[in-house]
Amino acid sequence: MRIDIITVLPELLKSPFEASILKRAIEAGHVEVYFHNLRDYTTDNYKSVDDYQFGGGAGMVMMVEPIDKCISGLKAERDYDEVIYMTPDGETLNQSIANQLSLKGNIIILCGHYKGVDQRVRDHFVTKEISIGDYVLSGGELGAAVLCDAVIRLIPGVLGNETSALTDSFQDDMLAPPIYTRPRDYKGWKVPDVLFSGNFPEIEKWREEQAYQRTKERRPDLLDD
Ligand code: ADE
Repeated sequence: MRIDIITVLPELLKSPFEASILKRAIEAGHVEVYFHNLRDYTTDNYKSVDDYQFGGGAGMVMMVEPIDKCISGLKAERDYDEVIYMTPDGETLNQSIANQLSLKGNIIILCGHYKGVDQRVRDHFVTKEISIGDYVLSGGELGAAVLCDAVIRLIPGVLGNETSALTDSFQDDMLAPPIYTRPRDYKGWKVPDVLFSGNFPEIEKWREEQAYQRTKERRPDLLDD
């Protein structure tokens, strides 16, 4: 998979890709991630990427031309499966969207800033708009980092234990059950006996029940369909 991220703040985005699972995924060749600074595609001396809104109103708007230059340049090199725009009015990110994107070949992620991008960018380039939740960030970069983390860990081969993404919360519209490790008894706080029974069908049944109870209490909306 290849991810091209277009941003005015590449420095805000880079660190998540320089540590942990994302770093290993890149080093192992499961994913290539490239950052494109929108200011490199500007045409004036000030390297302007934004301008005042037509019709008046507070806040600057990201101009179509630098974005066009950047996206068209990338598209001239290879085909892209999606051009994703990070925006609070997009579709809310969930595990199903992350699963679908993890199967793609090449994607572009465009990070918004200021009030957002000129509508013509959305009309002519963007194929998918994603929000990471109902709150407004100061730019799309942190949203893009969240999206990349959720997607990259699902690429086959990225997680050490191939099954571990399958038991994540949300993977079957269910939250994950409680988990424990050593010691068995800490200050009298005990690990449930069933986990030491050696009876794996019994343990699996307990986990499913716990997952169901937890989902019912915390996220009944997930059980709706
Ligand atoms: N840009 C600003 N707010 C955002 C959000 N909630 N999700 C994605 N991108 C954003």
